[in-house]
Amino acid sequence: MANSHLPEVRRVVVLGTGGTIAGKASSSGDNIGYTAGQVDVADLLGGIEAPGGIELIAEQVAQVDSKDMAFDIWQKLAQRCEHWLARPDVAGVVITHGTDTLEETAFFLHSVLAPAKPVVLTCAMRPATALSPDGPQNVRDAIAVAATADAQGVTAVCAGTIHGGLDVQKVHTYRLDAFASGDAGPIGYVEEGAVRRLRAWPAAPSSQSSKALSAPGPWPRVEIVMSHAGASGAIIDALLREGAEEPVRGLVLATTGNGTVHHALEVAALKAQDAGIAVLRATRCSSGRILPKPDDPLRDAGALTPVKARIALMLELLGK
Ligand code: SIN
Repeated sequence: MANSHLPEVRRVVVLGTGGTIAGKASSSGDNIGYTAGQVDVADLLGGIEAPGGIELIAEQVAQVDSKDMAFDIWQKLAQRCEHWLARPDVAGVVITHGTDTLEETAFFLHSVLAPAKPVVLTCAMRPATALSPDGPQNVRDAIAVAATADAQGVTAVCAGTIHGGLDVQKVHTYRLDAFASGDAGPIGYVEEGAVRRLRAWPAAPSSQSSKALSAPGPWPRVEIVMSHAGASGAIIDALLREGAEEPVRGLVLATTGNGTVHHALEVAALKAQDAGIAVLRATRCSSGRILPKPDDPLRDAGALTPVKARIALMLELLGK
């Protein structure tokens, strides 16, 4: 008979998707000339001590360089999170991921899962073979967050900082502390296995796009077009003309400043909108949000960066 005084085992599931954290170089001194996505997630956990009362489970979901992230991997990842989070013994999920598109995966999972338990993405800027890899400490910190009793929502942990899945952005090409949370600021820090929280855990999004968990591909095609000095409407015109098997259904304009668009690009974007293509403006600025004006002819994505606005529009077109 089970003894009700014994603590129940709580589990943290670590899902591997590849990235530099699982990367290998031919020399330990090489932090940039490596191949991402080589080491199994179970091996990444070797030597990592779980917090007291926590058991670790490893599962390989994908093994990619995250620049090549694809919708089918996102869908599988979301399904595996949903599966594990439904188990009462699972306290939370950690995802090892490449840094390059971590913010996109975090935003996607935030939009489709709205989890009441923690889903914590982590990564590394140096490969597993480095003389001094950053991956093991990041994984350890991410596990600490996933095991924290009141933690919830999608977060990302890198270099001891906890970022919200909605806010996180890669801001540096090389340094170990490569992520920031923009205006929102970090959720907190992990210090020697303890979470020091500065603000609330991420709240569930106002509307959840759960259809992405099961919708068969291909997902609605949404392209990003940048507004810049000397821009023209040529790219949008070409997209409207191309006659591809998967025609473009949405456009995100990566705009200057407070959502401003080069006049030539705006003419083409309005033509696309009139033709039934969904058009959304997102600012190129790394902080701040677009403050809308009543007479704006094109919708704006608020504080979302162009890559996150693209995911939001894709999910909107997919339907809830
Ligand atoms: C990747 O994003 O998979 C490679 C780069 C990195 O993880 O830093």
